Amino acid sequence: MNKLLTTLFALSVACATALAQAQTPAPTAPAATPEAAAAASRQAPAGAKSIEAKAAMCIGCHGIPGYQASFPEVHKVPMISGQSAKYIAAALTAYKNGDRKHPTMRSIAEGLSEQDVTDIANWYGSHANGKQLADKPSREPNAQVTALLNKAACASCHGANFSKPIDPSYPKLSGQHADYLFVALKAYKSENNPAVGRNNGVMGAIAKQFSNAELKALSNYMGSLEGELSIKPEPRFR
Ligand code: HEC
Ligand code: HEC
Repeated sequence: MNKLLTTLFALSVACATALAQAQTPAPTAPAATPEAAAAASRQAPAGAKSIEAKAAMCIGCHGIPGYQASFPEVHKVPMISGQSAKYIAAALTAYKNGDRKHPTMRSIAEGLSEQDVTDIANWYGSHANGKQLADKPSREPNAQVTALLNKAACASCHGANFSKPIDPSYPKLSGQHADYLFVALKAYKSENNPAVGRNNGVMGAIAKQFSNAELKALSNYMGSLEGELSIKPEPRFR
């Protein structure tokens, strides 16, 4: 009888744990902090073999719908599933070498080997969301946004529908979180800030031609388009 009770108890604990795990993506999305990143990275030691293990700490932020970062301002963590593998690798390398200064992503990228970067980039790049996009963007821009897009010929690099860049190391923008696009564009303008900024010759020169209000209008437009990016949710039972 005692044995049965013990078994029942163990079972109910297991159920409660499974339930708690199933509920992990909290409805009130917590803030992404360096501490959370550090805690996440402890779960996935460097040198872990499977791609699931390598990406485990990424999923903690990039795999939770609605997950918010709190720095440099509150915005949604960018979608990386379905982004071009070459661009993901280029971005991770830029965090690693300091061209992108975002402190959390820097410390995460610094912990990745070249092989990790390649494997993780290929994995996220392979997450097609099944959408077949037309060559034209899914929504026409208004007159103001049309003028802004023409001023810097955004489509000439990011593609007519902003999801078919001319080079795989350039990002897809359509459907990306608008608040993230805005933060990214402002980062290209930022100078002499040790914690905020992106050194990129091309986008730096472009972003500096626009006011923040104009960058916001561009971001809202691109974020509203249908795109190939998605959030691959955290597997419930690992
Ligand atoms: C603590 C939360 C957190 C974790 C964990 C995390 N990221 Fe990020 N990631 C972010 C935030 C916030 C940004 C936006 C940074 C910026 O503004 O440049 C970002 C940006 C990126 C970008 C650039 C996206 C773009 O469109 O330019 C890539 C690629 C990326 N992360 C990959 C990863 C990978 C791979 C991992 C796991 C090895 C990971 N991240 C783990 C929060 C996180
Ligand atoms: C000459 C080519 C070129 C043109 C024109 C161009 N871009 Fe870019 N864009 C790039 C490249 C290359 C990157 C990646 C830079 C990096 O590695 O940080 C980029 C990055 C971005 C990002 C960051 C995306 C992310 O996921 O972090 C945004 C947003 C963006 N561009 C928007 C625009 C907008 C809006 C315009 C027009 C006003 C524009 N770009 C014009 C080449 C271009």
